[in-house]
Amino acid sequence: MLALDMKKIDVRSDTFTLPTDEMIQSIVEAHKNNRFGDDVAGEDEVVNELQDKAAILLGKEKALLVTSGTQGNLISFFAQTRRGDEVVVENHSHAYVYEGGAMASMGGLYPKPVEGVRGYITPETLREAVSPDNPHYAKTSLVVIENTHSFSGGAIVTLEQTRKLSETARELELRIHVDGARLFNSAVAQNITVEKLVKDVDSVQICLSKGLSAPVGSIIAGTEEFIHEAHRIRKKMGGGMRQAGIIAAPGIIALEKMVDRLQEDHQNATLLYERLLQISQLSVVKPDTNIVFVFPENLGISANEFSVLLKDRGVLVYGAYGTKTRLVLNRMVSRDDTLYVADAIEEIVKNVTS
Ligand SMILES: Cc1ncc(COP(=O)(O)O)c(C=O)c1O
Repeated sequence: MLALDMKKIDVRSDTFTLPTDEMIQSIVEAHKNNRFGDDVAGEDEVVNELQDKAAILLGKEKALLVTSGTQGNLISFFAQTRRGDEVVVENHSHAYVYEGGAMASMGGLYPKPVEGVRGYITPETLREAVSPDNPHYAKTSLVVIENTHSFSGGAIVTLEQTRKLSETARELELRIHVDGARLFNSAVAQNITVEKLVKDVDSVQICLSKGLSAPVGSIIAGTEEFIHEAHRIRKKMGGGMRQAGIIAAPGIIALEKMVDRLQEDHQNATLLYERLLQISQLSVVKPDTNIVFVFPENLGISANEFSVLLKDRGVLVYGAYGTKTRLVLNRMVSRDDTLYVADAIEEIVKNVTS
């Protein structure tokens, strides 16, 4: 039995990462240098710096700070479609499943869910999904790529896949949005720049507050015209923020200092996978990035029961992700913590199968 005075290891999500000391210090420094202003009036220097930096990094004309990934996705959809349009989304994507149906309720958009291959909508699937240009049907106008794809275990969408889907989308006269909540994880895993990964798409959303550890915020980027429209929609959605430099300052640190270290999370995910692979009774999915999936059902227990057994050992996971348990490696979880999680799972398997 593992010691009961164990530490708490939180692998529920990389959203639980706390801001670094340097991020907090960056807020103080910006305050000392009198750089905050009213961002609704465009007068917060720190926000402007973050947006300029993000636009360059993503290779787009302009970028905009938004409150969250969900807000960034929705603004991007609304800025590029008309009410009543159809949006092709992957069956298990965040935009379809986890955004409260807001695409439909707030934007009057009609989501068309399709099955992906590890989250990737193939060009053939997209072709089949697009409705005929006929008054009986909604007009298909946008397709969403989620990179990495969370429900498929942080699966990467490759450069080639993005290029191919974009080509098809262009041919079909659709706009293409990338939900890149974890785009940097994808880029780091492929050893390429995020700029390359989104070169062929119209709009992109990246989260500053997941693996990159900033406390709040996402960025959307695209053409100047897109951002002009996005700005209006952000205000309508209550996303106009005043001295938003307070969240932009950590965001700058996130982009400058926190990207390369995502590799550590990926290495820990691989380490955990390799340890769990040795447990013959357990089914585990090889991670592309920082998310490891295990299927406790093979042990004769549900993912919810498994999560309780993990919690008893100080390891926090969300109850169930479909039928699986999701373990998200992040900056708050060290290599030693990762080994502890592997030990805890090994012990649980021993107990439930003996
Ligand atoms: C793939 C994906 N997209 C979008 C979001 C939404 O981000 P937020 O929680 O900041 O709204 C998440 C959040 O977990 C996500 O995993």
